[in-house]
Amino acid sequence: MSLITWSDEFSVNIKEIDNQHRQLIEMVNQLQRAMKEGKGAAVLNDILQRLIDYTDYHFSTEERMMEAYHYPGYIHHKAEHEALRRKVQEFQRLYKQNPTGLSVQLLNFLKNWLSDHILKTDKQYTRHLNNQGVT
Ligand SMILES: [Fe+2]
Repeated sequence: MSLITWSDEFSVNIKEIDNQHRQLIEMVNQLQRAMKEGKGAAVLNDILQRLIDYTDYHFSTEERMMEAYHYPGYIHHKAEHEALRRKVQEFQRLYKQNPTGLSVQLLNFLKNWLSDHILKTDKQYTRHLNNQGVT
């Protein structure tokens, strides 16, 4: 399984958001490395929790921006964020019930979700926000 590598392809052309996306990618890669190195449940859970907290913070930043600049796709975009929040909470709940290690399934889900969401959903707000001077 390969790590995600940042490239300009991921850029939404808004500095603050690009920096947050880089950070998220780094955190998912960190989780993958820790799993590969066979780190214990406590370490993995700690990394996962920090990833979840940072994701919340990042979603709030995007949602505030989209709302402030009346982005027409705001409701749909926010719904995608909420679906991810619910899905990760469900993974976390199952993991707490049965802490035999974080699954490759979760990692794959996070990696695919993150790159798909940035490339397909986040990039859609670039033009609207850039046109209003947000860069
Ligand atoms: Fe987003």
